[in-house]
Amino acid sequence: MMAGYIRTQTLPLMLLFPILLGMTHTAHSIYPRIRLSHKELWQMNRTWVFQGHTGPLQPQTMQLDESHQRLYVGAKNALFSLSLDRVNSHHRQVSWASTESETEECLMKGRDKHECANYIKVLQKYNQTHLMACGTGAFNPICALVQVGHTGQDKLFMLEEDSIMSGRGRSPYDPMSSCTSTLSGGELYIGLYTDYWENDGALCRLNNHTYTRTERNDREQLNAPKFVGSALIPDNDDRDDDKVYFFFTEREVDAEGVNRAVYTRIGRVCANDQGGQRMLVNRWSSFQKTRLICSVAGPNGIDTHFDELEDVFLLNSKDEKNPEIFGLFSTTSAVFKGYAVCVYHMDDIRAAFNGPFAYREKPEHRWTPFEGRVPFPRPGSCASKVSGGGFSSSKEFPDEVLRFVRSHPVMYRPVLPQHHRPVLLQTEPGGRKLTQIAVDRVQAQDGHYHVLYIGTDDSVILKVITIYNKDTDTMEEVLLEELQVFKVPAPIGEIIISPKRQQLYVGSKVGVAQVRLHQCDLYGSECADCCLARDPYCAWDGLTCSRYYPAGAYTKSRRFRRQDVRHGNAVQLCNGLQIDDEQWQRGERKIVYGVESNSTLLECVPRSLQAKVHWFLQQAERKHEIRGDERVIVTSHGLLFLRVRGSDAGVYVCQTVEHGYVHTLLQISLHVLGGERVESAIRTANDGEGSKTAAACHTVLGSPPGPSISPKSSQPPSVPVPNSRLWYKDFLQLIGYGDAEKVEEYCERVWCNDKKRKKPKRKYIPAVGEKRGKRKGEDNSHRAPRHTLNT
Ligand SMILES: *[C@@H]1O[C@H](CO)[C@@H](O)[C@H](O)[C@H]1NC(C)=O
Ligand SMILES: *[C@@H]1O[C@H](CO)[C@@H](O)[C@H](O)[C@H]1NC(C)=O
Ligand SMILES: *[C@@H]1O[C@H](CO)[C@@H](O)[C@H](O)[C@H]1NC(C)=O
Ligand SMILES: *[C@@H]1O[C@H](CO)[C@@H](O)[C@H](O)[C@H]1NC(C)=O
Repeated sequence: MMAGYIRTQTLPLMLLFPILLGMTHTAHSIYPRIRLSHKELWQMNRTWVFQGHTGPLQPQTMQLDESHQRLYVGAKNALFSLSLDRVNSHHRQVSWASTESETEECLMKGRDKHECANYIKVLQKYNQTHLMACGTGAFNPICALVQVGHTGQDKLFMLEEDSIMSGRGRSPYDPMSSCTSTLSGGELYIGLYTDYWENDGALCRLNNHTYTRTERNDREQLNAPKFVGSALIPDNDDRDDDKVYFFFTEREVDAEGVNRAVYTRIGRVCANDQGGQRMLVNRWSSFQKTRLICSVAGPNGIDTHFDELEDVFLLNSKDEKNPEIFGLFSTTSAVFKGYAVCVYHMDDIRAAFNGPFAYREKPEHRWTPFEGRVPFPRPGSCASKVSGGGFSSSKEFPDEVLRFVRSHPVMYRPVLPQHHRPVLLQTEPGGRKLTQIAVDRVQAQDGHYHVLYIGTDDSVILKVITIYNKDTDTMEEVLLEELQVFKVPAPIGEIIISPKRQQLYVGSKVGVAQVRLHQCDLYGSECADCCLARDPYCAWDGLTCSRYYPAGAYTKSRRFRRQDVRHGNAVQLCNGLQIDDEQWQRGERKIVYGVESNSTLLECVPRSLQAKVHWFLQQAERKHEIRGDERVIVTSHGLLFLRVRGSDAGVYVCQTVEHGYVHTLLQISLHVLGGERVESAIRTANDGEGSKTAAACHTVLGSPPGPSISPKSSQPPSVPVPNSRLWYKDFLQLIGYGDAEKVEEYCERVWCNDKKRKKPKRKYIPAVGEKRGKRKGEDNSHRAPRHTLNT
């Protein structure tokens, strides 16, 4: 359990793009609601990290195997099999480095030492017992099969020595090269650069016998592609109609062969494509592509396009024919860097491929829909007895069809995203880049939600939900959590989600982390804490904030589940449970001492970064809000008195408002001590003796530590009656024992010496209803001595 104070107060790293573009996004997602450091995640047991033993792991590719409960990782010179339960325990490893002579040869070609290694770029399930792995092999690609499974109790993970073969056409040469692959029916579909010089980008299929690919040096088919993703998606129940889709970017070419804009493309081929008989031999007879659009409309009618595909995620459902496709895009503009996530439906993709072919007379002309006669069977369709016009192989297709498909690889209609706009938009003035995306579909009480996990280049995972409002045709993004999954900043290279295990597996060059998707109890222990979190995984069950399961699935009666993801309306859902007056009296109570004329900070940092903090001063029966002036400043850490006065003493109430819900976090009794009395106490205390310090404290404060009192009855300003050893701690801090740890130690000693006042060992027990208290000894490093804080 972590303390309720999230301290990070960095400036917003993300500004909303729509502000720039004059769009109508709501502003909720400017800040994450919760931000958790690596240390915090680790302390909560929410993450485990596997780092290997020899240098940075440099994972290149990962593969989830739920049936064997393993995560396979292709790294530098090694393959790993990790436990899905805990990635950092019981791992198996296969070392697969390049030989000395291979490395030597690579260096002779003028490559760098770090490049001359075997980076595993392809890792695919070959069958139930084997993986196919291919690596760069020090610029000499190499493949092998790896045996997986069990041997008795043990996990099996073994490279089949006699399966080692050339990886040419199966793995790129360059470790930095983009590459995407998918394996189905023993055939490897792969987008890669097949040559040493990276001139030949190709979409290929390989098996034992055949090699089918895009045309060489045909810039209409592929031009300087960057390969991002691929998947086999069935069209219908006829297996012969299965298609393999590739996601990539490429450059437009104009008349002079000059490369122009970058576009994102979706391309596809028939899985059973055998190429042609006389022409297009070993070439795709079904390759087609079109543009994926992700853009926002500007106020002046000019759209802003996000054309650079960074990552793609296929969210599968029971209907394997219709996964939802999430693309993470960036702008290619030099003026600003923005990111967007767009969602595509297979219906729209199929409609684009079934629409008109694109045609232009000359490269400098505009594309128009092709209006001439289209041969039969329609170019791009698969050979099938059922739906492909009765052809049993593409080798039987008429030449006319092959010629047409060869000269018309581009479709006229692009694919537009759902709602014709991104579901998420962000721009990074702070320079943070978004690199990866994975998505979970979550059933909440008020419907289904997509939870987006977006990886950044600084080791962070953003957990976001996006909510579409039909009435206003607007999108709301809610940044639920910002999780720093690695200790050091590194670009997230891969995110794999296991909905079954409710875990994310995240790769970056420093290691592989596992992170639980949710931690409901973190939000707090009240109904309102849970509702305001708007986390579709979590609901208030009457006692705690806990995992939400759809009705019927588990024993807890539905009646007691409270959750409102769409609106986070805690007022409506939870207010019946408490009376306003009572709310006012809630909150942890604290006593703070200030020294006259010195600065004092009343700390209050809500757990939610989206909550607005209000301060009230309660004097007699009246309370009034403190707006701040040149002497009293409302800061994000709390209320800061630059020069505290005797008349400032009183009870200060720290309240937060979030989504209209008012929460009292703290009631702080501020006591102001006269400067001279403190000076003399310091002199005594500096002599060092605990008992003397205690005596000094008594002189100053006029009263020994006594039984607990309620702050209500305390009589400010000058005769506080503190109630615990915290009293010593606060006092010592006040008089300048800057080192918080020493203070703690010191207080411990003073307290223990005081035999008469023997008390049971203090344990951290959060008060019921409020867990905002700080655990003993925790986070002390943040705790500046109160009177030395600078603004
Ligand atoms: C984390 O796990 C350790 C060991 O399993 C346990 O002692 C500790 O209490 C756990 N911490 C939390 C916050 O659950
Ligand atoms: C998987 O393929 C390998 C290599 O072809 C073969 O030896 C093995 O028997 C296959 N396993 C199964 C379960 O088919
Ligand atoms: C590849 O060849 C081996 C041996 O010739 C055979 O056992 C295996 O089934 C073949 N795989 C495919 C995908 O054709
Ligand atoms: C109060 O402030 C004065 C001047 O800034 C400083 O000299 C003095 O040490 C401070 N007193 C305490 C108790 O910190």
